[in-house]
Amino acid sequence: MTVAPSPVSPQAGDYDRADWASGFRNVGVELSDVAIQASHGTIPSELQGTLYRNGPGRLERGGHWVHHPFDGDGMITALRFEDGGVRLSNRFIRTEGWLAEEKAGKPLYRGVFGTQKPGGPLANAFDLRLKNIANTHVVRLGDDLLALWEASSPHALDPDSLETRGLTLLDGVLKPGEAFSAHPRFDPGHHGQERMVTFGVKTGPRSTVRLLEFAVADDPATGVKAGQLLSERSDSFKGFAFLHDFAITPNWAVFLQNAIAFNPLPFVLGQKGAAQCLASKPGGQAQFWLVPRDSGAYAGQEPRIIPAPEGFVFHHVNAWEERDELVLTSIFYADFPTIGPDMDFRAIDFNQIPEGLLERCTIDLTSGSVQSERLSERCCEFAMVNPACQGLASRYAWMAVAERETGNDPLQALKKLDLVTGEQQVWSAAPRGFVSEPVMVPRPATAGAPAPAEDDGWVLCVIWNGARCASDLVILDAASMAEVAVLELPLAIPYGLHGSFVEG
Ligand code: CO
Repeated sequence: MTVAPSPVSPQAGDYDRADWASGFRNVGVELSDVAIQASHGTIPSELQGTLYRNGPGRLERGGHWVHHPFDGDGMITALRFEDGGVRLSNRFIRTEGWLAEEKAGKPLYRGVFGTQKPGGPLANAFDLRLKNIANTHVVRLGDDLLALWEASSPHALDPDSLETRGLTLLDGVLKPGEAFSAHPRFDPGHHGQERMVTFGVKTGPRSTVRLLEFAVADDPATGVKAGQLLSERSDSFKGFAFLHDFAITPNWAVFLQNAIAFNPLPFVLGQKGAAQCLASKPGGQAQFWLVPRDSGAYAGQEPRIIPAPEGFVFHHVNAWEERDELVLTSIFYADFPTIGPDMDFRAIDFNQIPEGLLERCTIDLTSGSVQSERLSERCCEFAMVNPACQGLASRYAWMAVAERETGNDPLQALKKLDLVTGEQQVWSAAPRGFVSEPVMVPRPATAGAPAPAEDDGWVLCVIWNGARCASDLVILDAASMAEVAVLELPLAIPYGLHGSFVEG
């Protein structure tokens, strides 16, 4: 481990592939409230709440490996911070598919990212069932913890015990099996109360985007309850859409329709997973779809459609409005990265796949013109801003990055970037550590004291420690990226996807 701000970069690609590959594994235990001590440093007593993480916890069954880790069954890890201590729990989500495969001891479903049932194309052709693996994100809404997977309904869990309550239709908001994004955005109070803003997309030759806004807290003044749907609208757009994420501002929900095409035939014939049938559309034009929020100044108006720069985007970082402009920061890939049917994900050549690069698009809402600017040449993913700045002008972003300054490699370091000056601080887990998504937790405000600075708080990250073959929780100072504490967890958590911090 090295401490910021003076990371020593090893030679390009100077990591051990066996260390990296050792992070792909099955979790064999479920822990409940195990007390964890800091191995180094002290856990800040002001950190009060729970870090929830979601990600694939099972990658193999009966000797059959998933084709891509995104096809692994969702497992929630909860790290509860209370009075300077941490307690750890983890649970698999009891999805229909997990329960059935647990009983059968072998894979019974195909995966969206190319996992096939044993038996070749004949055993897979025309089996178009989707296994809702609930593995992408986890957020709190009302009394439920929601395990999200974008192609279908969320699973509701008990926030304390992590027991699976079951599939939820959110009090009748969703139809059974309806798509519900794994990337909700939490509006910190653009129009008064906090809201969870999210969407579902139904795609085909046309795509319909359903935008949904939920209350996140009870409001005694209006009788609104946490988890209640406050507004919704649906808009139909021309063309196929793959929308994994979006961004919000006080007035807009911002989508980027990537220029990609979907050819379902190899999926239907049992040769490929559905996501492997996505491909760049040569000569295609990406578009921004700006949908007016019902809480904003343009409520009820038609969406704006604006040509977008080339490139493929999974994740946006933040967006805000500045006079007649909308500023959007996103992670762009030169092309849509996919793992073909004959490739083993553990053997991928990082040099052969495009890296994610941070770019800022400034959309002129009057003329419809777009200026784009590269903010950093360093490979990155999983970026976020201070949650209080969601949808608003933000100076800093925190993200997972590769150890070297350019080129594609596994994510081994965490970076704080000043979006105005370009100044950066880096904490590195190299050479034997591999990072996941960092979660920035602002320092709680103290009554009577000035509001904490935008970068005042902590960055929490679960890392894969190749030396221990287990996971560590790292707590960093969000301003300096200096190490505050490291907790060696008695659990080996495979590389995860998204998570959130719930105060309280
Ligand atoms: Co995502």
